Amino acid sequence: MQKDFDVIIVGSGIAGLSFALRTAEAGHRVAIITKKASAESNTNYAQGGIAAVTSQTDNIEMHIGDTLEAGDGLCSETAVRAILENGPQSIEELARRGVAFTQLNDGRVSLGKEGGHSKRRILHVKDITGKAIEEALLHAVATNSGITTFEHHFAIDLITVRSLRKRGITIAGETERDRVLGLYVLDTVQDCVQTFGAKAVLLATGGIGQIYQYTTNPFIATGDGIAMAYRAGVEIRNMEFIQFHPTALYTTDSERFLISEAVRGEGAILRTLDGQPFMQRYHQRADLAPRDVVARAIDSEMKKSGARHVWLDITGRPAEELRDRFPNIYDTCAKHGIYLEKDPIPVVPAAHYLCGGVKTNLAGETEMAGLYACGEVACTGLHGANRLASNSLLEAVVMAHQGAASVNAYLTAGVVSTSELPGWVDGDMRDSDERVVLLHNWDELKRTLWDYVGIVRSSKRLERARTRIQNLAREINDYYWNFKVEEGLLELRNMIQVAELVIDCALQRKESRGLHYTIDYPGKSPEPHDTSIRAT
Ligand code: FAD
Ligand code: SIN
Repeated sequence: MQKDFDVIIVGSGIAGLSFALRTAEAGHRVAIITKKASAESNTNYAQGGIAAVTSQTDNIEMHIGDTLEAGDGLCSETAVRAILENGPQSIEELARRGVAFTQLNDGRVSLGKEGGHSKRRILHVKDITGKAIEEALLHAVATNSGITTFEHHFAIDLITVRSLRKRGITIAGETERDRVLGLYVLDTVQDCVQTFGAKAVLLATGGIGQIYQYTTNPFIATGDGIAMAYRAGVEIRNMEFIQFHPTALYTTDSERFLISEAVRGEGAILRTLDGQPFMQRYHQRADLAPRDVVARAIDSEMKKSGARHVWLDITGRPAEELRDRFPNIYDTCAKHGIYLEKDPIPVVPAAHYLCGGVKTNLAGETEMAGLYACGEVACTGLHGANRLASNSLLEAVVMAHQGAASVNAYLTAGVVSTSELPGWVDGDMRDSDERVVLLHNWDELKRTLWDYVGIVRSSKRLERARTRIQNLAREINDYYWNFKVEEGLLELRNMIQVAELVIDCALQRKESRGLHYTIDYPGKSPEPHDTSIRAT
């Protein structure tokens, strides 16, 4: 039976939860659909903190200047100004909802420093900022009777006027204008697809790190929202700008635990394996240069020496001080036999953040009526070609608030819901022998992206990647239409789709800018431009 709500939010990270709270507080019936347990999100793993101007010695123009510099000529200054100016207010709201930002002994808030920031301006909860935010917001959602949460529910596809028309179905009263009507959702516990009707849908599905072999992102980051929006015909932007975090803990397996940039903010230095500092050779801000510069420098040093990692060195500090400031990092390194006060940490870059995504305006609206996107899934113009550290939690919460105001206006204007949407039509085959295809394709996708669409690119490598991913796309599409859907298949289809978008945007960009560096076009084009793609 169809389930109906005013607003359906896909995703329970900082963007989805913040939007849900504001929308329910305005009196709308809200559902959150989330594919795992609610806390499982990129948000939950955020370490360094959330950037905003809260100190007397800082000012908004400096935060704007740092963001524009990191973005390498491609930020929308209007978006930067609008989002950063709302920062302090959003921080106050997070604090009101129960986030206890770390304080100094004198009662002032503790401010961390990260790459590209000219001031200390990162509010944090030790090195578990994301977990603290997630817990506070989930608690607020649990106590709000206007919000129903569906855990272990996987959003498959948007239902839109156009998608139904493609199936030969017309909905009475709908005009030519496309709009969102709901979603098909797989209940992964009951193993059945349900139809959800909604007047408005928010995509808050986070990033795409899992398309790479090595990533700091948890398993949920498979680009589902971007793939859904693309299939629905909505514009996607700047997918080539994948941010590689310079310092993930190097281990011999594929796990990549993040070592926060805040560790460098507290004085840690990058060194080659023979102990030499090297960042002063690459940028005047040395170890605190913008992230694209640091990741490329490490890549270059590793390629020159053949080393498997570089060192991040914060030795010589009292163990107590390090354990107090970075309890999560300290304990995780200790489990690997690394004690921060006396051992340098082996680190490598890993895929971390997507600067592009579903294009929205500053009200979180996509091109399609009723469809909103906020957080890492969206591209507002704030990050340009490279995100300034700790600006993403801020963008997610500010844009969730702007988006909630906009959805409220949309609903108040009297949009109606469609109570009898057609059901999902599933393939009927389920052949466990064929699952090996999924596993194999999953591995091949991740290795291809890592090897050919990494920190340093070339047209030849991108073309090679495109051919391989197109083959995977053909295979998975055959599989998709014949077999009953399951989570692994849905994620792989989305990851392949998103990988194609990354490669297509990378091939469109005939210059090197920010996070996109190609040996075939090492210079910057005089005209900064966005890349854009949409399904025909
Ligand atoms: P997420 O928090 O990723 O939430 C996405 C949600 O969507 C999840 O609940 C997921 O399960 C759900 N979902 C996805 N697909 C589906 C589907 N098909 N159906 C149903 N549900 C779905 N940024 C900072 O600003 N400061 C930091 O210190 C910082 N540290 C970071 C550290 C790490 C290790 C990582 C990985 C990222 C860090 N970032 C940081 C980036 C930041 O955490 C993310 O950009 C931000 O949390 C994204 O929030 P979000 O709400 O957009 O998405
Ligand atoms: C970190 O703590 O280094 C991550 C910060 C970010 O990704 O913004």
